[in-house]
Amino acid sequence: MNERSGPFHAIVMDHFAHPRNMGEMENPDGIGEARNPVCGDTMRLFIKVEAARIVKATFLTFGCAAAIAASSMTTEMIIGMTLEDALKVTRQAVSVALGDLPPTKVHCSVLAEAAIKAAISGYQKKLVASHSFFPGGREKR
Ligand code: FES
Repeated sequence: MNERSGPFHAIVMDHFAHPRNMGEMENPDGIGEARNPVCGDTMRLFIKVEAARIVKATFLTFGCAAAIAASSMTTEMIIGMTLEDALKVTRQAVSVALGDLPPTKVHCSVLAEAAIKAAISGYQKKLVASHSFFPGGREKR
């Protein structure tokens, strides 16, 4: 059975038509945004972190079908992962999970990899800021 409809695998069309974890998150621990400078498509990823593990992830994406499917798939892939493992998720891994994006659409998965890194970086900066101390152990105000 051919699982492709047009250029996309059925997995892409499923995630595009029924995006998982779509929407803004209230009080996220980290937010990462990535924008494709060529087409202008933008992905914003929100993460909740507990004990160095992503326990919740949601997204808002303004973009093409592949970008929306990649965003949806990315949230499914990273929920439950440690931050360390999530940082290893590549655009290729997202593309493969979507049944291999066609060559002209591989760049759409770049947003996902960049947004993961940005969200984790945002989380780490927030964490450092909330644990900043002056020398001598006095909490920074
Ligand atoms: S065409 Fe812009 S991310 Fe897909």
